[in-house]
Amino acid sequence: MQKRLFLHAIALASLTATGAMAQDNTFKIGLILPMTGQQATTGRQIEAAARLYMAQNGDTVAGKKIQLIVKDDTSLPDATRRLAQELVVNDKVNVLAGFGITPSALATAPIATQSKTPMVVMAAATSSITQASPYIVRTSFTLPQASVALADWAPKNGIKKVVTLVSDYGPGIDAEKFFKERLTFNGGQVTESLRVPLRGPDFAPFLQKVRDAKPDALFVFVPSGAGAAVMKQFAERGLDKAGIKLIGTGDVTDDDQLNDMGDVAVGVVTSHHYSAAHPSAMNKKFVEAFGKANKGLRPNFMAVGGYDGMRVIYEALKTSKGQGGGDALLAAMKGQIFESPRGKMFIDAQTRDVVQDIYLRKVERKDGQLYNVEFDVIKDVKDPGKTK
Ligand code: DHB
Repeated sequence: MQKRLFLHAIALASLTATGAMAQDNTFKIGLILPMTGQQATTGRQIEAAARLYMAQNGDTVAGKKIQLIVKDDTSLPDATRRLAQELVVNDKVNVLAGFGITPSALATAPIATQSKTPMVVMAAATSSITQASPYIVRTSFTLPQASVALADWAPKNGIKKVVTLVSDYGPGIDAEKFFKERLTFNGGQVTESLRVPLRGPDFAPFLQKVRDAKPDALFVFVPSGAGAAVMKQFAERGLDKAGIKLIGTGDVTDDDQLNDMGDVAVGVVTSHHYSAAHPSAMNKKFVEAFGKANKGLRPNFMAVGGYDGMRVIYEALKTSKGQGGGDALLAAMKGQIFESPRGKMFIDAQTRDVVQDIYLRKVERKDGQLYNVEFDVIKDVKDPGKTK
Protein backbone atom coordinates (compact mmCIF):
# COMPACT_ATOMS: atom_id res chain seq x y z
CA MET A 1 0.00 0.00 0.00
CA GLN A 2 2.77 2.34 1.06
CA LYS A 3 4.80 1.44 -2.01
CA ARG A 4 1.90 1.95 -4.40
CA LEU A 5 1.18 5.35 -2.96
CA PHE A 6 4.85 6.23 -3.32
CA LEU A 7 4.92 5.17 -7.00
CA HIS A 8 1.76 7.09 -7.59
CA ALA A 9 3.40 10.17 -6.10
CA ILE A 10 6.41 9.76 -8.39
CA ALA A 11 4.17 9.36 -11.44
CA LEU A 12 2.29 12.46 -10.47
CA ALA A 13 5.48 14.41 -9.84
CA SER A 14 6.93 13.44 -13.21
CA LEU A 15 3.66 14.29 -14.93
CA THR A 16 3.73 17.69 -13.35
CA ALA A 17 7.38 18.10 -14.28
CA THR A 18 6.65 17.19 -17.91
CA GLY A 19 3.69 19.54 -17.85
CA ALA A 20 5.78 22.34 -16.39
CA MET A 21 8.54 21.76 -18.91
CA ALA A 22 6.12 21.81 -21.81
CA GLN A 23 4.69 24.96 -20.35
CA ASP A 24 8.14 26.51 -19.96
CA ASN A 25 9.05 25.83 -23.53
CA THR A 26 5.88 27.23 -24.98
CA PHE A 27 5.20 30.91 -25.42
CA LYS A 28 1.51 31.54 -25.90
CA ILE A 29 -0.05 34.49 -27.69
CA GLY A 30 -3.80 34.84 -27.18
CA LEU A 31 -5.05 36.63 -30.30
CA ILE A 32 -8.61 37.90 -29.81
CA LEU A 33 -10.24 39.20 -32.99
CA PRO A 34 -13.61 39.68 -34.64
CA MET A 35 -13.57 36.71 -37.05
CA THR A 36 -17.33 36.90 -37.78
CA GLY A 37 -19.87 39.74 -37.88
CA GLN A 38 -19.57 43.34 -39.03
CA GLN A 39 -15.84 43.61 -38.25
CA ALA A 40 -14.83 40.22 -39.71
CA THR A 41 -12.42 41.66 -42.30
CA THR A 42 -10.35 43.09 -39.44
CA GLY A 43 -9.96 39.62 -37.95
CA ARG A 44 -9.20 38.02 -41.29
CA GLN A 45 -6.51 40.58 -42.11
CA ILE A 46 -4.81 40.48 -38.71
CA GLU A 47 -4.82 36.70 -38.37
CA ALA A 48 -3.37 36.34 -41.88
CA ALA A 49 -0.66 38.89 -41.09
CA ALA A 50 0.26 37.21 -37.79
CA ARG A 51 0.56 33.84 -39.52
CA LEU A 52 2.66 35.38 -42.28
CA TYR A 53 5.01 36.90 -39.71
CA MET A 54 5.41 33.48 -38.07
CA ALA A 55 5.95 31.74 -41.41
CA GLN A 56 8.69 34.24 -42.27
CA ASN A 57 10.37 34.37 -38.86
CA GLY A 58 9.94 30.85 -37.55
CA ASP A 59 7.97 29.64 -34.57
CA THR A 60 10.87 29.25 -32.15
CA VAL A 61 12.17 32.34 -30.37
CA ALA A 62 14.69 32.38 -27.49
CA GLY A 63 14.26 28.62 -27.19
CA LYS A 64 10.49 28.87 -26.88
CA LYS A 65 7.90 27.44 -29.22
CA ILE A 66 5.43 30.15 -30.18
CA GLN A 67 1.81 29.09 -30.01
CA LEU A 68 -0.85 31.37 -31.48
CA ILE A 69 -4.32 30.86 -29.98
CA VAL A 70 -6.97 32.67 -32.07
CA LYS A 71 -10.37 33.45 -30.53
CA ASP A 72 -13.38 35.07 -32.19
CA ASP A 73 -15.04 37.77 -30.06
CA THR A 74 -17.54 38.72 -32.82
CA SER A 75 -16.56 42.30 -31.80
CA LEU A 76 -18.73 42.15 -28.67
CA PRO A 77 -16.75 43.59 -25.74
CA ASP A 78 -18.31 41.22 -23.16
CA ALA A 79 -17.07 38.31 -25.25
CA THR A 80 -13.61 39.88 -25.60
CA ARG A 81 -13.29 40.22 -21.83
CA ARG A 82 -14.52 36.67 -21.15
CA LEU A 83 -12.12 35.21 -23.74
CA ALA A 84 -9.22 37.24 -22.33
CA GLN A 85 -10.01 35.97 -18.83
CA GLU A 86 -10.06 32.35 -20.07
CA LEU A 87 -6.84 32.80 -22.03
CA VAL A 88 -5.05 34.21 -18.98
CA VAL A 89 -6.43 31.82 -16.36
CA ASN A 90 -6.78 28.54 -18.27
CA ASP A 91 -4.31 28.79 -21.14
CA LYS A 92 -1.81 30.90 -19.18
CA VAL A 93 -0.99 33.02 -22.23
CA ASN A 94 2.12 35.19 -22.07
CA VAL A 95 0.66 37.97 -24.19
CA LEU A 96 -2.83 39.12 -25.15
CA ALA A 97 -3.15 40.64 -28.62
CA GLY A 98 -5.60 41.71 -31.33
CA PHE A 99 -8.60 43.90 -30.31
CA GLY A 100 -10.56 44.87 -33.41
CA ILE A 101 -12.57 47.73 -31.95
CA THR A 102 -12.11 50.21 -29.11
CA PRO A 103 -14.82 48.81 -26.77
CA SER A 104 -13.14 45.38 -26.92
CA ALA A 105 -9.75 46.85 -25.99
CA LEU A 106 -11.19 48.91 -23.14
CA ALA A 107 -13.13 45.93 -21.75
CA THR A 108 -9.93 43.86 -21.58
CA ALA A 109 -7.60 46.49 -20.10
CA PRO A 110 -8.35 45.64 -16.42
CA ILE A 111 -7.50 41.96 -17.06
CA ALA A 112 -4.12 42.94 -18.50
CA THR A 113 -3.45 45.11 -15.45
CA GLN A 114 -4.54 42.56 -12.85
CA SER A 115 -2.66 39.66 -14.41
CA LYS A 116 0.37 41.75 -15.48
CA THR A 117 -0.02 40.47 -19.03
CA PRO A 118 1.24 42.65 -21.90
CA MET A 119 -1.66 43.52 -24.20
CA VAL A 120 -0.73 44.41 -27.77
CA VAL A 121 -3.48 46.45 -29.43
CA MET A 122 -3.17 45.78 -33.17
CA ALA A 123 -6.32 47.50 -34.45
CA ALA A 124 -8.34 49.69 -32.07
CA ALA A 125 -7.39 53.36 -32.42
CA THR A 126 -9.08 55.64 -29.87
CA SER A 127 -6.40 57.82 -28.32
CA SER A 128 -7.22 57.00 -24.68
CA ILE A 129 -6.80 53.20 -24.99
CA THR A 130 -3.13 53.15 -23.96
CA GLN A 131 -4.08 55.00 -20.78
CA ALA A 132 -6.53 52.27 -19.76
CA SER A 133 -3.71 49.95 -18.60
CA PRO A 134 0.06 50.30 -18.11
CA TYR A 135 0.33 46.88 -19.84
CA ILE A 136 -1.06 48.11 -23.18
CA VAL A 137 1.25 48.65 -26.16
CA ARG A 138 -0.24 49.79 -29.48
CA THR A 139 0.93 48.97 -33.02
CA SER A 140 -2.02 50.40 -35.00
CA PHE A 141 -2.53 54.19 -34.98
CA THR A 142 -4.69 56.82 -33.36
CA LEU A 143 -7.47 58.83 -34.95
CA PRO A 144 -6.07 62.18 -33.75
CA GLN A 145 -2.75 61.22 -35.43
CA ALA A 146 -4.45 60.71 -38.80
CA SER A 147 -7.11 63.47 -38.58
CA VAL A 148 -4.85 66.43 -37.79
CA ALA A 149 -2.76 65.91 -40.93
CA LEU A 150 -5.85 66.14 -43.13
CA ALA A 151 -7.08 69.28 -41.35
CA ASP A 152 -3.73 70.91 -42.20
CA TRP A 153 -3.95 69.86 -45.84
CA ALA A 154 -7.61 70.78 -46.52
CA PRO A 155 -7.68 74.60 -46.21
CA LYS A 156 -4.52 74.88 -48.32
CA ASN A 157 -6.40 73.03 -51.03
CA GLY A 158 -9.57 75.03 -51.29
CA ILE A 159 -11.53 73.17 -48.61
CA LYS A 160 -12.80 75.62 -46.00
CA LYS A 161 -16.34 74.56 -45.13
CA VAL A 162 -16.65 70.96 -44.01
CA VAL A 163 -19.37 68.69 -42.63
CA THR A 164 -18.07 65.77 -40.55
CA LEU A 165 -19.69 62.34 -40.48
CA VAL A 166 -18.34 59.79 -37.99
CA SER A 167 -19.29 56.51 -36.35
CA ASP A 168 -20.67 57.38 -32.95
CA TYR A 169 -18.08 55.85 -30.61
CA GLY A 170 -14.50 56.41 -29.40
CA PRO A 171 -12.49 56.68 -32.63
CA GLY A 172 -15.24 58.64 -34.39
CA ILE A 173 -15.48 61.15 -31.55
CA ASP A 174 -11.67 61.52 -31.59
CA ALA A 175 -11.65 62.07 -35.36
CA GLU A 176 -14.47 64.62 -35.21
CA LYS A 177 -12.88 66.59 -32.34
CA PHE A 178 -9.30 66.70 -33.60
CA PHE A 179 -10.23 67.38 -37.21
CA LYS A 180 -12.55 70.23 -36.19
CA GLU A 181 -10.11 71.84 -33.74
CA ARG A 182 -7.26 71.87 -36.24
CA LEU A 183 -9.38 72.97 -39.20
CA THR A 184 -10.79 75.86 -37.13
CA PHE A 185 -7.26 76.79 -36.04
CA ASN A 186 -6.30 76.86 -39.73
CA GLY A 187 -9.13 79.24 -40.60
CA GLY A 188 -11.61 76.64 -41.86
CA GLN A 189 -15.01 75.78 -40.45
CA VAL A 190 -16.96 72.64 -39.57
CA THR A 191 -20.55 73.65 -40.25
CA GLU A 192 -22.17 70.46 -39.00
CA SER A 193 -21.08 67.32 -37.12
CA LEU A 194 -23.08 64.19 -37.88
CA ARG A 195 -22.77 60.86 -36.04
CA VAL A 196 -24.02 57.48 -37.25
CA PRO A 197 -24.44 54.35 -35.12
CA LEU A 198 -21.56 51.85 -35.14
CA ARG A 199 -23.82 48.83 -35.64
CA GLY A 200 -25.80 48.53 -38.88
CA PRO A 201 -25.57 52.18 -39.93
CA ASP A 202 -27.79 53.63 -42.68
CA PHE A 203 -25.77 56.44 -44.24
CA ALA A 204 -28.44 57.60 -46.72
CA PRO A 205 -30.40 60.11 -44.57
CA PHE A 206 -27.14 61.65 -43.30
CA LEU A 207 -25.75 62.03 -46.79
CA GLN A 208 -28.96 63.70 -47.95
CA LYS A 209 -28.43 66.29 -45.20
CA VAL A 210 -24.88 66.84 -46.39
CA ARG A 211 -26.06 67.33 -49.96
CA ASP A 212 -28.49 70.00 -48.82
CA ALA A 213 -25.79 71.74 -46.72
CA LYS A 214 -23.42 71.92 -49.76
CA PRO A 215 -20.08 72.11 -47.91
CA ASP A 216 -16.77 72.12 -49.79
CA ALA A 217 -16.12 68.65 -48.42
CA LEU A 218 -17.48 65.86 -46.29
CA PHE A 219 -14.97 64.46 -43.76
CA VAL A 220 -15.68 60.81 -42.91
CA PHE A 221 -14.52 58.36 -40.28
CA VAL A 222 -16.05 54.90 -40.34
CA PRO A 223 -14.33 51.73 -39.10
CA SER A 224 -12.59 49.34 -41.45
CA GLY A 225 -15.15 47.48 -43.54
CA ALA A 226 -17.77 50.25 -43.70
CA GLY A 227 -16.10 52.47 -46.30
CA ALA A 228 -17.58 50.82 -49.40
CA ALA A 229 -21.14 51.45 -48.17
CA VAL A 230 -20.34 55.15 -47.61
CA MET A 231 -18.84 55.48 -51.09
CA LYS A 232 -21.80 53.79 -52.73
CA GLN A 233 -24.33 56.03 -50.98
CA PHE A 234 -22.20 59.12 -51.62
CA ALA A 235 -22.40 58.44 -55.37
CA GLU A 236 -26.05 57.33 -55.36
CA ARG A 237 -27.11 60.54 -53.62
CA GLY A 238 -25.18 62.54 -56.23
CA LEU A 239 -22.85 64.29 -53.77
CA ASP A 240 -19.88 63.92 -56.10
CA LYS A 241 -21.87 65.45 -58.97
CA ALA A 242 -22.88 68.30 -56.65
CA GLY A 243 -19.18 69.16 -56.30
CA ILE A 244 -18.82 68.00 -52.68
CA LYS A 245 -15.44 66.37 -52.05
CA LEU A 246 -15.11 63.29 -49.90
CA ILE A 247 -12.14 63.33 -47.53
CA GLY A 248 -11.36 61.26 -44.45
CA THR A 249 -8.93 59.15 -42.54
CA GLY A 250 -7.70 56.17 -44.56
CA ASP A 251 -10.24 53.89 -42.91
CA VAL A 252 -12.77 54.95 -45.55
CA THR A 253 -10.56 53.93 -48.49
CA ASP A 254 -9.52 50.73 -46.74
CA ASP A 255 -7.25 48.62 -48.98
CA ASP A 256 -9.35 45.55 -48.13
CA GLN A 257 -12.28 47.03 -50.09
CA LEU A 258 -10.85 49.85 -52.19
CA ASN A 259 -10.48 47.96 -55.43
CA ASP A 260 -14.23 47.22 -55.56
CA MET A 261 -15.33 50.80 -54.85
CA GLY A 262 -15.24 51.93 -58.48
CA ASP A 263 -14.91 55.39 -60.02
CA VAL A 264 -16.50 57.27 -57.13
CA ALA A 265 -13.37 56.57 -55.07
CA VAL A 266 -10.95 57.97 -57.65
CA GLY A 267 -9.46 61.26 -56.44
CA VAL A 268 -10.53 60.82 -52.81
CA VAL A 269 -7.86 62.26 -50.49
CA THR A 270 -7.25 60.65 -47.11
CA SER A 271 -4.58 60.69 -44.41
CA HIS A 272 -3.27 57.50 -42.83
CA HIS A 273 -0.25 55.54 -41.68
CA TYR A 274 -0.42 52.69 -44.19
CA SER A 275 -1.11 52.18 -47.87
CA ALA A 276 -0.58 48.90 -49.74
CA ALA A 277 0.99 51.16 -52.40
CA HIS A 278 3.68 52.48 -50.01
CA PRO A 279 6.73 52.46 -52.28
CA SER A 280 9.37 50.79 -50.11
CA ALA A 281 11.18 47.54 -50.85
CA MET A 282 9.99 46.09 -47.56
CA ASN A 283 6.36 46.90 -48.32
CA LYS A 284 6.53 45.48 -51.82
CA LYS A 285 7.79 42.22 -50.35
CA PHE A 286 5.11 42.29 -47.66
CA VAL A 287 2.22 42.89 -50.09
CA GLU A 288 3.47 40.16 -52.41
CA ALA A 289 3.98 37.57 -49.67
CA PHE A 290 0.65 38.42 -48.04
CA GLY A 291 -1.17 38.01 -51.36
CA LYS A 292 0.62 34.77 -52.12
CA ALA A 293 -0.36 33.26 -48.76
CA ASN A 294 -3.98 34.49 -48.95
CA LYS A 295 -5.35 33.90 -52.46
CA GLY A 296 -4.39 37.34 -53.72
CA LEU A 297 -5.79 39.29 -50.76
CA ARG A 298 -4.35 42.81 -50.46
CA PRO A 299 -3.17 43.69 -46.94
CA ASN A 300 -4.78 46.72 -45.34
CA PHE A 301 -3.81 48.85 -42.32
CA MET A 302 -5.19 46.20 -39.98
CA ALA A 303 -2.82 43.61 -41.44
CA VAL A 304 0.18 45.86 -40.91
CA GLY A 305 -0.89 46.47 -37.28
CA GLY A 306 -0.96 42.70 -36.76
CA TYR A 307 2.34 42.07 -38.54
CA ASP A 308 4.16 44.76 -36.55
CA GLY A 309 2.48 43.63 -33.34
CA MET A 310 4.04 40.19 -33.85
CA ARG A 311 7.40 41.84 -34.47
CA VAL A 312 7.12 43.72 -31.18
CA ILE A 313 6.29 40.47 -29.33
CA TYR A 314 9.07 38.43 -31.01
CA GLU A 315 11.72 41.08 -30.31
CA ALA A 316 10.59 41.47 -26.69
CA LEU A 317 10.92 37.74 -26.21
CA LYS A 318 14.39 37.77 -27.76
CA THR A 319 15.57 40.73 -25.66
CA SER A 320 14.28 39.19 -22.42
CA LYS A 321 15.88 35.88 -23.52
CA GLY A 322 12.69 34.00 -22.79
CA GLN A 323 13.20 34.69 -19.06
CA GLY A 324 10.95 36.67 -16.80
CA GLY A 325 7.24 37.35 -16.95
CA GLY A 326 4.95 40.06 -18.21
CA ASP A 327 6.95 42.94 -16.76
CA ALA A 328 10.18 41.90 -18.50
CA LEU A 329 8.33 41.53 -21.79
CA LEU A 330 6.61 44.87 -21.41
CA ALA A 331 9.92 46.61 -20.67
CA ALA A 332 11.38 45.09 -23.85
CA MET A 333 8.42 46.26 -25.93
CA LYS A 334 8.84 49.87 -24.87
CA GLY A 335 11.11 51.95 -27.08
CA GLN A 336 11.32 49.50 -29.99
CA ILE A 337 12.18 51.28 -33.20
CA PHE A 338 12.09 49.52 -36.54
CA GLU A 339 11.16 49.57 -40.19
CA SER A 340 7.61 48.39 -40.84
CA PRO A 341 5.92 47.91 -44.22
CA ARG A 342 4.29 51.29 -43.41
CA GLY A 343 7.66 53.05 -42.95
CA LYS A 344 9.70 53.70 -39.81
CA MET A 345 7.85 53.23 -36.53
CA PHE A 346 8.58 53.63 -32.87
CA ILE A 347 6.92 52.50 -29.62
CA ASP A 348 7.17 55.53 -27.35
CA ALA A 349 8.49 54.24 -24.02
CA GLN A 350 6.49 56.80 -22.02
CA THR A 351 3.09 56.43 -23.65
CA ARG A 352 3.49 52.87 -25.07
CA ASP A 353 1.81 54.27 -28.17
CA VAL A 354 3.01 54.23 -31.76
CA VAL A 355 4.91 57.17 -33.24
CA GLN A 356 4.92 57.05 -37.04
CA ASP A 357 4.79 58.90 -40.35
CA ILE A 358 1.36 59.98 -41.55
CA TYR A 359 0.83 60.16 -45.30
CA LEU A 360 -1.54 62.15 -47.47
CA ARG A 361 -2.81 59.92 -50.22
CA LYS A 362 -5.06 60.17 -53.25
CA VAL A 363 -6.96 57.26 -54.80
CA GLU A 364 -5.62 56.55 -58.28
CA ARG A 365 -6.03 53.79 -60.82
CA LYS A 366 -2.75 52.02 -61.50
CA ASP A 367 -2.60 49.03 -63.86
CA GLY A 368 -6.39 48.78 -63.60
CA GLN A 369 -6.33 48.64 -59.79
CA LEU A 370 -7.35 51.32 -57.31
CA TYR A 371 -4.68 52.37 -54.80
CA ASN A 372 -4.10 55.01 -52.13
CA VAL A 373 -1.11 56.74 -53.70
CA GLU A 374 0.97 58.70 -51.18
CA PHE A 375 1.81 62.28 -52.22
CA ASP A 376 2.99 63.90 -48.97
CA VAL A 377 4.26 62.81 -45.55
CA ILE A 378 4.37 64.24 -42.05
CA LYS A 379 7.27 62.58 -40.24
CA ASP A 380 7.28 61.02 -36.75
CA VAL A 381 3.78 61.97 -35.66
CA LYS A 382 3.02 61.40 -31.97
CA ASP A 383 -0.57 60.95 -30.89
CA PRO A 384 -1.88 64.53 -30.45
CA GLY A 385 -4.55 63.10 -28.13
CA LYS A 386 -2.09 62.40 -25.29
CA THR A 387 -2.34 64.92 -22.50
CA LYS A 388 0.78 63.70 -20.74
C1 DHB B 1 -11.38 51.28 -34.73
C2 DHB B 1 -11.86 50.28 -35.57
C3 DHB B 1 -11.58 50.35 -36.91
O1 DHB B 1 -12.02 49.38 -37.75
C4 DHB B 1 -10.85 51.41 -37.45
O2 DHB B 1 -10.63 51.45 -38.76
C5 DHB B 1 -10.38 52.40 -36.60
C6 DHB B 1 -10.65 52.33 -35.24
C7 DHB B 1 -11.70 51.23 -33.28
O3 DHB B 1 -12.74 50.68 -32.90
O4 DHB B 1 -10.90 51.75 -32.49
